[in-house]
Amino acid sequence: MSNKTDKVVIKVRNLKKYFETVKAVDGISFDVREGEVFGLLGPNGAGKTTTIKLLLGLLEPNDGEMEIFGLNPERQDVQIKERVGYVAEDPLIYKSLTPQDLFNFIASIRELDEDVIQARAKEYLESFEALEYYDQMIATLSHGNKQKLQIIAAILHDPQLLILDEPLAGLDAKSVRVMREIIELHLENGGSVLFSTHIMEIAEDMCDRIGIINKGKMVGIGRLDELRQQANKLGASLEDVFLRLTEQDTSVNEIVKKLRDSFKNKKKLM
Ligand SMILES: Nc1ncnc2c1ncn2[C@@H]1O[C@H](COP(=O)(O)OP(=O)(O)OP(=O)(O)O)[C@@H](O)[C@H]1O
Ligand SMILES: [Mg+2]
Repeated sequence: MSNKTDKVVIKVRNLKKYFETVKAVDGISFDVREGEVFGLLGPNGAGKTTTIKLLLGLLEPNDGEMEIFGLNPERQDVQIKERVGYVAEDPLIYKSLTPQDLFNFIASIRELDEDVIQARAKEYLESFEALEYYDQMIATLSHGNKQKLQIIAAILHDPQLLILDEPLAGLDAKSVRVMREIIELHLENGGSVLFSTHIMEIAEDMCDRIGIINKGKMVGIGRLDELRQQANKLGASLEDVFLRLTEQDTSVNEIVKKLRDSFKNKKKLM
């Protein structure tokens, strides 16, 4: 269940970010509406993380317009951060802290009640079956457990909008289920989500609308049923269309063949 409305919470128009000659984001436009999960779906290097970093004011765009809750990420990033929970691509930072220290730090910078935050954080840790790491140095935790901490750190202040860059990366099956429930509860609470993934099935399972992104451009956008309908008309599955739009369909057999050939040659050398 969610509370979808027509209200736009993220507006992106003709957004561009170039790193010297690399057009990482090359004229992208999309809206994320209140109450929905919008997925940015695209292969490695498509421009998903760059788009997300631009939205959070972590990078400066070369051109285009962006708004989050009507605010400008370049000038009003502090107000935006109060209302947004962000899970970055690389898990956690603050490696010399324990989770407990981290949550205290969050309570202090966000000016939230420390006891309330610790109690909430413990509940989430328990759901993720990671409460035993509460007092353990973050540096010593596994990749997946660091990712859980990052997720918890992003939701402790009850943000209205979650911006999640590959949030399921590193999570085991049980934790994926917990994460999905966290997103569901967030939606039931009137929240919205922008989500990035390179995995078609995850986008299909979790998103209300999907923007397919390739080489910095939006090459397809719509509700899942709309994208499926378009695929049907072409006599293909959604996955076929995704692979075609992102130019992954023809090349993979070639690549595998080349790899096999060079592997064979390598053996001969020995
Ligand atoms: N700081 C940077 N300097 C130079 N090039 C960059 C930088 N950050 C990203 N790029 C380039 O921009 C392009 C888009 O990268 P981005 O990280 O946004 O892709 P992505 O869709 O998030 O990929 P992935 O699925 O691998 O996370 C890539 O070609 C990448 O090499
Ligand atoms: Mg990325």
